[in-house]
Amino acid sequence: MNRTHPSDDDSRAARAADTFRQIYGDSPDGVWAAPGRVNLIGEHTDYNDGFALPIALPQTTLLAARTRTDGRLRLHSAQGDGRITELAVAALAPGAVTSWAAYPAGVVWAFAEAGHAVGGADLHFDSTVPTGAGLSSSAALECAVAVAYDELYGLGLTGAELARTAQRAENGFVGVPCGIMDQMASVCCTAGAALHLDARTPERHLQVPFDLEGQGLRLLVIDTRVTHDLGDGAYAALRTGCERAAALLGLPALRDLPAGKLPEALSALPQELVPLVRHVVTENARVEEAVSRLRKGDAAALGPILTDGHASLRDDYRISCPETDLAVAAALHAGALGARMTGGGFGGSVIALVRAGREGMVGESVTAAFGAAGHRPPRTLTVTPAAGARRVEPAPVR
Ligand code: GLA
Repeated sequence: MNRTHPSDDDSRAARAADTFRQIYGDSPDGVWAAPGRVNLIGEHTDYNDGFALPIALPQTTLLAARTRTDGRLRLHSAQGDGRITELAVAALAPGAVTSWAAYPAGVVWAFAEAGHAVGGADLHFDSTVPTGAGLSSSAALECAVAVAYDELYGLGLTGAELARTAQRAENGFVGVPCGIMDQMASVCCTAGAALHLDARTPERHLQVPFDLEGQGLRLLVIDTRVTHDLGDGAYAALRTGCERAAALLGLPALRDLPAGKLPEALSALPQELVPLVRHVVTENARVEEAVSRLRKGDAAALGPILTDGHASLRDDYRISCPETDLAVAAALHAGALGARMTGGGFGGSVIALVRAGREGMVGESVTAAFGAAGHRPPRTLTVTPAAGARRVEPAPVR
């Protein structure tokens, strides 16, 4: 079982700066870190102007960066094929970049599109956020660039503004119609807390203390290794379905449908939209209930909310898969207080809330169940609520 602490970033940052020097022949202006995330509850609510409750992971994308004055943008990743991608900032346009580099390049495009005076840079990335696991490795890439550019180009933007810029990159440049949760989590989370996000007013987010250690709890992330891909159209179709339902109900967004009016609203909708609307409305209520339980200092009481949330994703939103359902069932059978699929769906990761000391057993039970079902072994991490995007190393002398 892996355990990563934020302080690991310091030694990784020194290595990233060294690699930067080898690649680009000079020192970076600084090194920034942006984390991946897991969402405790509040799935597929963000693009309905609703609520979510993510935490940042200790796993981060590091970015060593140095500005350039010639308008060139050069990108290199320790996880890439060794090649440097070179682009001209002035020529950045949606569809122009198709590799992983679209995420960081998209952020530079989004800054420029919003009228900010940004230029080129040399960028080197090194990430410990698992990719394709529903843990927001793309948001981590984007948000690392957002915070680095904010400082390097003296933009002085707020966390919510940086998150919006990163979301704009993904929507407008990469072409994935995601909401704002992942980017808000990566930029605005704080260590030891979950982020209570109201996607209608992200700037008013709140930090809710989430003291796992103090309450004798552990949070497991079980990566089912079923690769999730939000770009394949299924996510966009769900979003469109929700928007259609809101329009039919005469509401700005599904967030504006109170739980008390749900039965009446459902009876007025075409059958195929009913489960979508039921999920979104009940999921928003689950976030508010989770926040209230956490505020009372009872993190263990999140368990049943997580499990209910999974049933809603499985039966109403229908975005789980055999592996995520099995991971949830096996974790609960082994004594987890609650478990659910987290993130966009169609695979990815499951979270399980467990009593301290039981994490090994729960992880082993899920692995055994996967073996018996003929699935590839899952990867299991124990995580703690970590800090959002930040600078991790003072600028080395150039
Ligand atoms: C993905 C998207 C988010 C959010 C989740 C589902 O992670 O990027 O905006 O919609 O799916 O909650």
